[in-house]
Amino acid sequence: MFTRRGFVKLLGGGFFGAMALGGYAFGVEPLARLSVARYVLTPPRWPSGLKLADIHACEPWMSTRRITSICERANALGGDVTVLLGDYAAGMNLVTRYVHSNEWSKALATLKAPLGVHAIMGNHDWWEDRTAQKNGGGETFGHRALAEAGIEVYSNRAVRLEKDGSGFWLAGLEDQLALLPGRKWKRASMGGLDDLDGTLAQVTDEAPVILLAHEPDIFPKVPPRVALTLSGHTHGGQVRFAGHSPVVPSRFGDRYAYGHIVEYDRNLIVSGGLGCSIAPIRFGVPPEIVVVDIG
Ligand SMILES: [Fe+2]
Repeated sequence: MFTRRGFVKLLGGGFFGAMALGGYAFGVEPLARLSVARYVLTPPRWPSGLKLADIHACEPWMSTRRITSICERANALGGDVTVLLGDYAAGMNLVTRYVHSNEWSKALATLKAPLGVHAIMGNHDWWEDRTAQKNGGGETFGHRALAEAGIEVYSNRAVRLEKDGSGFWLAGLEDQLALLPGRKWKRASMGGLDDLDGTLAQVTDEAPVILLAHEPDIFPKVPPRVALTLSGHTHGGQVRFAGHSPVVPSRFGDRYAYGHIVEYDRNLIVSGGLGCSIAPIRFGVPPEIVVVDIG
């Protein structure tokens, strides 16, 4: 399986050829750009008349000042509900300073939406918490920081919300790559803490369901009962040319790397995310806020 670590090696091998590109990919795209990706869709099983506009999905890694300015931009887009799709932790060593969870959670607490701000965790939130790795579950510092900042955190939990008298469910999955392998943790292989069946079992009526899942790899297992799955994690591969990402941290390669994917009448939207992991490189996938108009 390719990983972003593999990509860094690949770029190292072709270093001189990549120099000119590198100036932009290191210095400009990850830091100075912010785009808004907009999707308009009517998923099957979505009742007509329910308009749930503008879901903003963010996957932040950067200074608190920049997070705050991204939140301001997201607030100005005026969505009904805002979701955060995980990976708040840095996820790389090439940093001048780590931003403490107390700081990024306070910056994220500036997000405002009529139906609230809802968050799930990503693999890096688990990987950077040694206590959570040792416990093999429970909560990470990220769960606590977000909850203390007044943001709803989901760990295999579904909640019913209502917009203009029409209900819908928001179901948030715990991370699929939460537990690292290693002798230190007494685990032979990577372990997930996701419980898709248990989460969807909490859905008790026919209202449509939006699933929040950090990694898109769960998508083939998501039943048609779920109108829309929202994911992050891939960062579109961080490098993307002509609609293809050469290296994607997914079992399915490029299949769920980025954007709106429809398979067997089921919808998945994968955000390109905001930060970078492993290396501060982005090319062809500028940091983005995702806006979804459903109705
Ligand atoms: Fe991730």
